[in-house]
Amino acid sequence: MFPIHRPRRLRTHPQLRRMVRETVLSKNDLIYPLFAVPGEAFAKEVKSMPGVYQLSVDKIVEEAKEVYDLGIPSIILFGIPEDKDTDATGAWHDCGIVQKAATAVKEAVPDLIVIADTCLCEYTSHGHCGYLETGDLTGRVLNDPTLELLQKTAVSQAKAGADIIAPSGMMDGFVQAIREALDAAGFQDTPILSYAAKYASAYYGPFRDAADSTPQFGDRRTYQMDPGNAREAIKEVELDIAEGADMLMVKPALAYMDIIWRVKEATNLPVAAYNVSGEYSMVKAAALNGWIDEQRVVMETLTSFKRAGSDLILTYHAKDAARWIDS
Ligand code: PBG
Ligand code: ZN
Repeated sequence: MFPIHRPRRLRTHPQLRRMVRETVLSKNDLIYPLFAVPGEAFAKEVKSMPGVYQLSVDKIVEEAKEVYDLGIPSIILFGIPEDKDTDATGAWHDCGIVQKAATAVKEAVPDLIVIADTCLCEYTSHGHCGYLETGDLTGRVLNDPTLELLQKTAVSQAKAGADIIAPSGMMDGFVQAIREALDAAGFQDTPILSYAAKYASAYYGPFRDAADSTPQFGDRRTYQMDPGNAREAIKEVELDIAEGADMLMVKPALAYMDIIWRVKEATNLPVAAYNVSGEYSMVKAAALNGWIDEQRVVMETLTSFKRAGSDLILTYHAKDAARWIDS
């Protein structure tokens, strides 16, 4: 039996492999997350995320310049407020930390696209993503009162200069509520990137250190999705599209490649994948031990998110990846 088809023919030379490569990672695909904290000239490395820092606004601006100079088109801002309370005041206050950071970044680097993560968990005293009945220690997040706070948050972020609003709390109806509020405030042209299919995941562990947003009691399983569910992701996606989402996110990414694929098949909207904190920390830990080749593992993983169907990738590896793409 002599094979007529020899797929290896197209793998014989690096240039030939380059010619037939189906998926190529680009700097255009990358979104870099940043954590803003009060203070000045402040930078503190997150223990569980080597290379990731909580930064004061002046440092965020420096970082934003570097990100822009590397050719990365966008950052997403998270905030750690001075004070937390049951109304998540720090999330929607016009002088909130994300609002300050967004304004400062847009002033210094106007062409960098600033995405604001729109959620309450970093700002509530109990650490949940929504509003709780006063004194409720069961963690039962009230959906519709939360929507009102999210509307206020989104509008104040847009006023501060955020280019894209990214609601991440998995409340029912949050896209429509935010769309209505943005439109009413004159922000008809501000797109919404919805965390449409966000799973209740242990991979968020290190982020909760970074953002100081661990729930004080209970967990997030009454609003984030069950990892066993795939059809439900499509239901969430369809609802968000109907409510007016401009882009959709799947989160986490690595263990949910099938969801990225299904979502891509189900929509014509741009799809983003969030390469979350735990995915980053695992790679970093193994790399620091000398157990894996960090550059090759990261580039392979990010390329695979794209192959699975994501147009955009939120990743803590973005700066390194941009340098490696150039090298
Ligand atoms: C919360 C939020 C989370 C992340 C982004 N926004 C996680 C959570 O539910 O605690 C996770 C990001 C990461 O792990 O990198 N709204
Ligand atoms: Zn949240």
